Amino acid sequence: MMREAVLVFVLCVLSLSVAQDCPLPTIAQLESVLPPLLVISSGSQSYSPNVTEGSVQYVCLAQGSMIDSYQAITLIATFTPNPGEPEQTSIFDIECISGTWSGRTGSLDPPPASVVGVPPRTNCYRCREGFGGDTRCRECDSACNSGLMRCTGSGSTDCCLSFTASGQCDGSTDCTSSGPNYVATESNNFTCTCNLTCSAGYTVNSNCTGCDSTSICDRDSPCMNGGQCIQYSPPDNYTCDCTGTGYQGVNCTVMLPPTPSPTPSPTPSPTPSPTPSPTPSPTPSPTPSPIPSPCTVSNCDNCQNSSCCKNCSSGSYLNPDGCTCGSCGVSCSRCLDSSCCTECQLGYEIDGCECEAADSSSVGSVSSSLESASFSLESSVTNLPSTETPQLSSSTLTIVAPVVLVLVLCVCIIIVFVIVIIVRRNRKKKLVNLDLRYVDDFRISLDLNSACQSKALIVFVTI
Ligand SMILES: *[C@@H]1O[C@H](CO)[C@@H](O)[C@H](O)[C@H]1NC(C)=O
Ligand SMILES: *[C@@H]1O[C@H](CO)[C@@H](O)[C@H](O)[C@H]1NC(C)=O
Ligand SMILES: *[C@@H]1O[C@H](CO)[C@@H](O)[C@H](O)[C@H]1NC(C)=O
Ligand SMILES: *[C@@H]1O[C@H](CO)[C@@H](O)[C@H](O)[C@H]1NC(C)=O
Ligand SMILES: *[C@@H]1O[C@H](CO)[C@@H](O)[C@H](O)[C@H]1NC(C)=O
Ligand SMILES: *[C@@H]1O[C@H](CO)[C@@H](O)[C@H](O)[C@H]1NC(C)=O
Ligand SMILES: *[C@@H]1O[C@H](CO)[C@@H](O)[C@H](O)[C@H]1NC(C)=O
Ligand SMILES: *[C@@H]1O[C@H](CO)[C@@H](O)[C@H](O)[C@H]1NC(C)=O
Repeated sequence: MMREAVLVFVLCVLSLSVAQDCPLPTIAQLESVLPPLLVISSGSQSYSPNVTEGSVQYVCLAQGSMIDSYQAITLIATFTPNPGEPEQTSIFDIECISGTWSGRTGSLDPPPASVVGVPPRTNCYRCREGFGGDTRCRECDSACNSGLMRCTGSGSTDCCLSFTASGQCDGSTDCTSSGPNYVATESNNFTCTCNLTCSAGYTVNSNCTGCDSTSICDRDSPCMNGGQCIQYSPPDNYTCDCTGTGYQGVNCTVMLPPTPSPTPSPTPSPTPSPTPSPTPSPTPSPTPSPIPSPCTVSNCDNCQNSSCCKNCSSGSYLNPDGCTCGSCGVSCSRCLDSSCCTECQLGYEIDGCECEAADSSSVGSVSSSLESASFSLESSVTNLPSTETPQLSSSTLTIVAPVVLVLVLCVCIIIVFVIVIIVRRNRKKKLVNLDLRYVDDFRISLDLNSACQSKALIVFVTI
């Protein structure tokens, strides 16, 4: 029993191997099939043939049961029977036996001109000398005259009209054995292929029965550099979470700047500061900025460079050149230019473009006025350039005028006083004249005295 079972198994394997068809032969396989053929055609000796590469031309191809497999082939090849011997070109037949190509003995002949350079015939179930004339082809049954127009045997049902999706010969072209949506046409050499097309984001499933939604994250892995892929409802909709990767962009492919700066470098604020700040805002910049040279402009609070002032200190103003500082007028702390003050020092009041002493003690004494006037005169003379003298004289006049007024008043008082004295003296003289008529000397002296006094009066009036 056991022996019989083993025998059946071996027979089955053997029959399977016999049924196995061969792919197109290699050069080495052709070289190995030639020696027995050469013995018959050229005499019994040892042969080591060398087939010329690219010289092989197929004349007849008998289809196997699978795509690109054959039961028998007739071909033309050029070869040297032994190294150094002259090349020869011959036509011969090979058969696939147990998956191996063998030469059909006695078939080595000069190729007939009618088949040289002619496309191979594939509608053959035998390829052998004596069949089908020069093409050595035994044709398929007419039932196989559609689709691939090939056959695997002599019967009308041994037609190979198409190849299924798995490559098997099929007796029809409808591809039903392959499944729905498969088609076999001439454009694909009658091989059943899936003709299902899916909308964007979907792919045909493995057996061509429908469209599967495929995650683009799984299929394409679009997120680079370790970015996290997040899939959304349309299968082609995704985002990449690039957090912590050092990259950004749709697919985390754009490299981030090396050092992230919290704020994009702000422009140095032009706010004035009482103390000059040599260093602007300390923002990190890739290019090393040169250290600003110290400011040498006089009366400058804030320099933009060593020779150009940006903001002048109190009591000075920025000249029209935009770089140097000019001195404001006396008692002025802020001005538009040298002739127009906008803010006065403490104790002074602005009047138009001028600074005036603030009269806090309502009626200032003459002496204090004079003092301040003389002080201002002195300081202006010593401190100010000659170009400012007209303005200066006008300011001093305003201080001198009240002094003159006081002087005039004093003179008037003196005059009145003197008149009163004279009137009184005249009265006394009349009395003396009446009582002392005879004292002429005294009278004369009195007259002289009055004359002298009138002269003095005249002098006062002229003043
Ligand atoms: C065939 O000829 C080539 C040189 O033309 C040589 O290199 C090669 O070994 C030969 N093959 C055989 C099987 O002798
Ligand atoms: C069909 O077969 C021919 C020759 O056998 C080949 O050149 C062509 O590329 C094949 N076409 C397809 C779509 O496989
Ligand atoms: C394949 O499918 C497309 C559209 O789905 C259709 O236009 C075409 O005719 C089909 N091809 C065959 C051979 O049926
Ligand atoms: C096709 O394959 C899918 C899985 O990809 C399966 O669910 C379905 O049943 C198969 N259909 C047929 C007809 O084999
Ligand atoms: C992101 O990756 C996808 C899939 O690889 C690609 O189609 C797309 O063009 C990429 N986008 C960018 C902006 O690189
Ligand atoms: C992708 O998915 C997001 C989140 O669900 C949604 O807001 C967006 O509109 C979708 N984009 C497209 C093109 O469908
Ligand atoms: C200083 O700045 C001014 C105005 O910006 C410019 O005209 C001048 O050339 C600068 N001088 C130096 C030494 O940088
Ligand atoms: C200069 O400083 C003063 C205050 O001292 C300020 O009012 C003025 O706006 C500043 N000018 C400039 C040009 O910075």
